[in-house]
Amino acid sequence: MPTQPITVTVTGAAGQIAYSLLFRVASGDVFGDRPVKLRLLEIPAAKRAAEGVAMELLDSAFPLIAGITVTDDPDEGFAGAEAVFLVGAKPRGKGEDRSDLLTGNGKIFGPQGKAIAANAAPGVRVLVVGNPANTNATILDAHAGLEAGQVTAMTRLDHNRAIAQVAGKLGVTPGRLSRMTVWGNHSNTQFPDVAELLLDGEPVADKLDPEWVDGEFIPRVAKRGGEIIEVRGSSSAASAASSAVDHMHDWFNGTPEGDWTSVALRSDGSYGVAEGLFASFPCRAVDGVWQIVQGLDLDDRQRQRIADSAAELAEERDTVRDAGML
Ligand SMILES: NC(=O)c1ccc[n+]([C@@H]2O[C@H](COP(=O)([O-])OP(=O)(O)OC[C@H]3O[C@@H](n4cnc5c(N)ncnc54)[C@H](O)[C@@H]3O)[C@@H](O)[C@H]2O)c1
Repeated sequence: MPTQPITVTVTGAAGQIAYSLLFRVASGDVFGDRPVKLRLLEIPAAKRAAEGVAMELLDSAFPLIAGITVTDDPDEGFAGAEAVFLVGAKPRGKGEDRSDLLTGNGKIFGPQGKAIAANAAPGVRVLVVGNPANTNATILDAHAGLEAGQVTAMTRLDHNRAIAQVAGKLGVTPGRLSRMTVWGNHSNTQFPDVAELLLDGEPVADKLDPEWVDGEFIPRVAKRGGEIIEVRGSSSAASAASSAVDHMHDWFNGTPEGDWTSVALRSDGSYGVAEGLFASFPCRAVDGVWQIVQGLDLDDRQRQRIADSAAELAEERDTVRDAGML
């Protein structure tokens, strides 16, 4: 049993997602029985609130907590980090358009990339949750200079939402389904794809009505974030945290035998997605490294949907590149 603590950084530590995520990490849901040293990074205005969260973590007396640091200094926040959850981001302000959102976040993720490069452990594994997650990851990656695959953006929530929708439709528990794929951007252009889906290890795509898949399933998953805001009154938090837990858990422990998951990472050109774009692919974690599942047969409809989402990612990338952020 490894007893050496793992150092884990969470940004946006005073926010809603972190309020669930930190307690899941502290209770062992990601790193098993390995002790954790938590580094909570916030902006100065929210540092005190993050200190309150740290007090609650301490009060929970989690057996695995080996230390908590609260800081607004990125160098201190990323010091020695082996796993990083980048949750903190700048929401769209009043009167701002999407390019303001992209460049506003670039001002966060560029410097954080540099701070990770300078302070984190060499093999650090980074998950970008803060939106627009794929393009934030693109910016971070450009400044961190890490190996391909060390920086990822989260599409696991979309993946989990997609599984939940099909499980509901078929009247089965989610755990009986495997090989869901979400392709592309964490946005409305994403492509949740059931073509390879298995139920109890057997193909199940033929049992799903194509009209339901294209007309209800895909738009529902893509717009689920908006639906949650409408019904709950605020954005997905516990489900986002749970998906971040799943993502990092599988990265460190491996994807289940015979299954894969959805991860946005720097494209190597697989499936026609231009090299360098941060797109979601079907991925397996093998010895702590994400590998894009190769050799899937795609029809024209699938190719087109993947290309459409990749085109949006290329536009976002061009916007931040033109603003000098890459
Ligand atoms: N990828 C996904 O599937 C997914 C799902 C849900 C939410 N999100 C995104 O996650 C982000 C966080 O959501 P939330 O509900 O926790 O938001 P929130 O507003 O409750 O919390 C965000 C926190 O980030 C902090 N922050 C801002 N800039 C920071 C910086 N430079 N360094 C450190 N901390 C910083 C803020 O002070 C705030 O406390 C949002 O961008 C949201 O859109 C992504």
